[in-house]
Amino acid sequence: MADSFLLSEKLATDLNKVIPFVEGISLKIAALTGLEEKALQVKLALEESLTNAMRHGNKLEPQRLVNVSIDANSERVILDIHDEGNGFDVENIPDPTRRDLRDVPSGRGIFLIQKLMDRVEFYDKGSGVKMIKFFSQES
Ligand SMILES: Nc1ncnc2c1ncn2[C@@H]1O[C@H](COP(=O)(O)OP(=O)(O)OP(=O)(O)O)[C@@H](O)[C@H]1O
Ligand SMILES: [Mg+2]
Repeated sequence: MADSFLLSEKLATDLNKVIPFVEGISLKIAALTGLEEKALQVKLALEESLTNAMRHGNKLEPQRLVNVSIDANSERVILDIHDEGNGFDVENIPDPTRRDLRDVPSGRGIFLIQKLMDRVEFYDKGSGVKMIKFFSQES
């Protein structure tokens, strides 16, 4: 069994591709680490960030691409997702647990990503996001 994997792909904008793609990655991470729960956490974060890249970044325009790179080994996974949009105001993301937003059923993706991953960094005005999850048993 390989003890690492690298992947670099340009995905066309198509929301139907997100689930099969993230499922494949999750299986690879589970096989690599033996940590099913962490693999599922990475899957969810990747699903949210790809959905954001396609919907908000690429405005669901099929010819626009999302660049995905994944660098995984038994210690950690680094994911980089970059869309072809204009980004957003990354300094002012509303907290979806705020009392007045409690009943708003959207605006939860980034919050989830930040809970699930150990490091999350937006770049290129938010059209890119780099995320890291560590696989040490303690956390
Ligand atoms: N890649 C991106 N490009 C442009 N804007 C983005 C991007 N990612 C997020 N945003 C902006 O940040 C907001 C918050 O994103 P978040 O994923 O938290 O919520 P949402 O996508 O609106 O709803 P949900 O993810 O709960 O379905 C989005 O509504 C959008 O305005
Ligand atoms: Mg979202």
